[in-house]
Amino acid sequence: MLNIITIIGARPQFIKAATVSRVINTRNDISEKIIHTGQHYDGNMSDIFFDELHIPTPDYNLGIGGNLHGQMTGQQLEKIEEILLQEKPDRVLVYGDTNSTLAGALAAVKLNIPVAHIEAGLRSFNKKMPEEINRVITDHIADLLFSPTETAVANLINEGIGQEQIILSGDVMYDAALYYADKAESKIETIEHLSIGSHYVLVTLHRAENTDSRDRLEAIVNGLAELAANKYSVVLPLHPRTRKKLCEYGLWEKLCRSVRIIDPVGYLEMVLLEKNANLIITDSGGVQKEAYFHKIPCITLRKETEWVELLDIGWNKLCDVKQKRWDNLITQFAGQMQPWEPIYGTGNAAQHIVSQLVEQAR
Ligand code: UD1
Ligand code: UDP
Repeated sequence: MLNIITIIGARPQFIKAATVSRVINTRNDISEKIIHTGQHYDGNMSDIFFDELHIPTPDYNLGIGGNLHGQMTGQQLEKIEEILLQEKPDRVLVYGDTNSTLAGALAAVKLNIPVAHIEAGLRSFNKKMPEEINRVITDHIADLLFSPTETAVANLINEGIGQEQIILSGDVMYDAALYYADKAESKIETIEHLSIGSHYVLVTLHRAENTDSRDRLEAIVNGLAELAANKYSVVLPLHPRTRKKLCEYGLWEKLCRSVRIIDPVGYLEMVLLEKNANLIITDSGGVQKEAYFHKIPCITLRKETEWVELLDIGWNKLCDVKQKRWDNLITQFAGQMQPWEPIYGTGNAAQHIVSQLVEQAR
C-alpha cells in the first residue's frame, strides 16, 4: 500500500485534488491523507468545494492564511513538517504554484520524503510573480513531475531536469471540466436568479500584479465600465483579495455602477457561468483554460501567460489593461480562432497520475 499525503490550500488546488482523490478512492493499493493549509478559508473559497465536489474532509486543517507571504509560507512549513514526522508518508503530492505548494514540497524534501508535483513545468518567465518562484523551486526539489502540456515538459528539460522524472500526464483541470460539465446544469436556477441575461461577459480578477497597483486596477474598472456601457452585461464573481483592494483604493462604488459583482461562486456555478458566456476576461490561470475547454474566447489581463498554446491558436489574447478601447473586445476574435483541438489531454490525466504514483513506488 502506497501512503501519500496531499497538501492543498487554495481554491484551484481543491478542484484539481478533487479529481485525483476520486481516482485514489477507487483503488486499494494507494491511500491518501489530506492537509489543508488554510491559505483560503472563507466558506465560498474553501468549504463549498469540499462539499460540492465530494473531496474527503482534510485530516488536518492548519488554519494558516491571510498573512504576509513569507510568514504564511514559514508557518505552513513548520506545521507540515510536524505532521510529516508523525505520519511518515511514502510520498507527498502537491499541486500548482501557491505558497501552500512551496511549503508542502519544502517540508517534505527536508525530511527526504519524495515529492510529486502536479502541473509541473508551467512558466511565465516573470520572476516578479510569486507563483513563478513557487513553481520553479517546487519543480527543482520534486522528484516526480506531472506536466499538463508538451510546452511544460520542454520547459523542465531546458532547465536541466532529467527526462526520467517528467511525465506528460495531461491536465487534471480538463478531467474536471469534462466530469462536471453536465453536473453544472443543476445550478441553472442560481444563474437565472442573477438576471444577467443571455449576453454577458464573465470576468475574474485576482492576480497581484493587477490588484496591487491602483493604476492598473483603475484602468480595469474603467475598461469594464466601457464594456458594460455597450450591449453586454458584465458579471464578476469577486475574489476577496480584489474586493479589499477596490475598497482600499476607493474604486468600489465606481465598479458597482456598471458591473454585476457577486461573491465567489462554487465550481459548478462557475462552470455554468463559463459555458454560457459570450466572452471571458480573466487573469486567472485556471479560468483561461476553462474558457477553452468550454469553447469560449478569452481575454487575459496580463502581459504574459503560462498557457501559451491558447495564444498560438487564437482562442486567448493578452490584453494591456490600459488599452484605449474595451468596447470592441468581442469582435477581435472573428476569424482568428483555429479549430478546437485537445491540447490538454483526453480527460484521463488523474487516472494516469495515480497509476504512475503506484507504479513508481514498486
Ligand atoms: C493565491 C495564490 C495564487 C492563486 C490564487 C487562487 C500564492 C502566492 N498565490 O492568491 O497563485 O492564483 O490563490 O485564488 O499562493 N483572502 C480572504 N479569504 C480567503 C482567501 C484569501 O479574505 O478565503 C484574502 C487574504 O486574507 C489575503 C488575500 O485574500 O489578504 C490574498 O490571499 P492569498 O492567499 O495571499 O493570495 P491569493 O491572491 O488568494
Ligand atoms: N472558480 C470558482 N469560483 C469562482 C472563481 C473561480 O469555482 O468564483 C474556479 C475556476 O472555475 C477555476 C479555479 O477556480 O477552476 C481557478 O482558480 P483561481 O482563478 O482562483 O486561481 P488560478 O487558477 O489563477 O491559480
